[in-house]
Amino acid sequence: MKALLAMPHGLQHTMFSPEQLEQLSRMVEVDVEQTVPDLAAAPDAVLSEVEVLITGWGSPCVDGAVLERSPRLRAVVHTAGTLRHVASQALWRREDLLVTTAAQANAVPVAEFTLAQILLAGKRSLAREAAHRRSRGREKTLDLSAGGNYGAVVGLIGASRIGTMVAELLQPFSLEVLISDPFVEADAIRQLGATKVELPELFRRSDVVSLHAPDVPSTQKMVTAELLSSMPDGATFVNTARPALVDLDALRAELVSGRLGAALDVHDDLAPDDPLWDVPTVSITPHIAGSLGNELHRMAASALEELRRLHAGEAALAPVDREHLSTTA
Ligand SMILES: NC(=O)c1ccc[n+]([C@@H]2O[C@H](COP(=O)([O-])OP(=O)(O)OC[C@H]3O[C@@H](n4cnc5c(N)ncnc54)[C@H](O)[C@@H]3O)[C@@H](O)[C@H]2O)c1
Repeated sequence: MKALLAMPHGLQHTMFSPEQLEQLSRMVEVDVEQTVPDLAAAPDAVLSEVEVLITGWGSPCVDGAVLERSPRLRAVVHTAGTLRHVASQALWRREDLLVTTAAQANAVPVAEFTLAQILLAGKRSLAREAAHRRSRGREKTLDLSAGGNYGAVVGLIGASRIGTMVAELLQPFSLEVLISDPFVEADAIRQLGATKVELPELFRRSDVVSLHAPDVPSTQKMVTAELLSSMPDGATFVNTARPALVDLDALRAELVSGRLGAALDVHDDLAPDDPLWDVPTVSITPHIAGSLGNELHRMAASALEELRRLHAGEAALAPVDREHLSTTA
């Protein structure tokens, strides 16, 4: 099976461990030192032979012209989550082509990060740490009256891959979990140990709200000023999804006033003098929830498993569901 690493130069050495690259070269005919960052510029001799494109972050778009020049292509195996920038309408129309994603593997670190943020939010960790620092540890009158992870309510928006995993990770804790997802039945949500509710109830009741819906036209600014203003005082909003889903001005107002806290792993470009940078009860991280370091090798392992299955004629582990592109990430 002839494969091509269609990705930026060097990315293969970040995504795959040396052992995984060795495994890859045993499994398919591929030059693991050579990547093709621009498929449009790839020679005909290469595209006319290729059977599998292995793609990843920053990969070139597999468009109609590339497909036309690749008559033997059977599959696009993506080593990352969303294929939004890699897949074209022409690719989705080609139902004979298998397209797989490593989104499930990428969901693991996001869910782990979210779990950590939820538990720390319960402790009101950022606010208490800030007060501790401000007094240089001399303030002994710690207020023990608010927060805690015993019987607190956590609201998850989206029973997505990540949202589902977060609900599962939350099961051992003494927390009540609410989930809002218009496309998932109450029964399926009950099996996660959670209760299906509508968005207004979720915001009104949750001590921590965590966002796990996709960035699609129907979810733009779904987290409105009204929903945010209904959250209990001292509650925390966690965003590991996408910034476009949130009314940033409304969120900023709630955070700067100190009424709500937040953990923002994704955010719009904030000006250097944006007041959010200086709010001690807001954690702002540069998109670290998803895979990094050794976690990238989990996504590579998932891609290798797809290649093994393809080679063995077995069903794919995670084929992209073309029917639900408009409601998934
Ligand atoms: N921070 C990171 O590094 C990182 C990494 C991976 C994914 N993400 C983001 O996390 C989010 C979830 O990704 P995923 O792979 O788990 O998604 P997914 O594709 O598995 O699932 C999307 C889910 O959202 C639901 N949904 C659609 N519209 C909704 C709405 N209006 N309200 C509630 N639910 C709705 C769908 O029913 C579906 O269950 C996406 O925004 C994705 O871009 C972030």
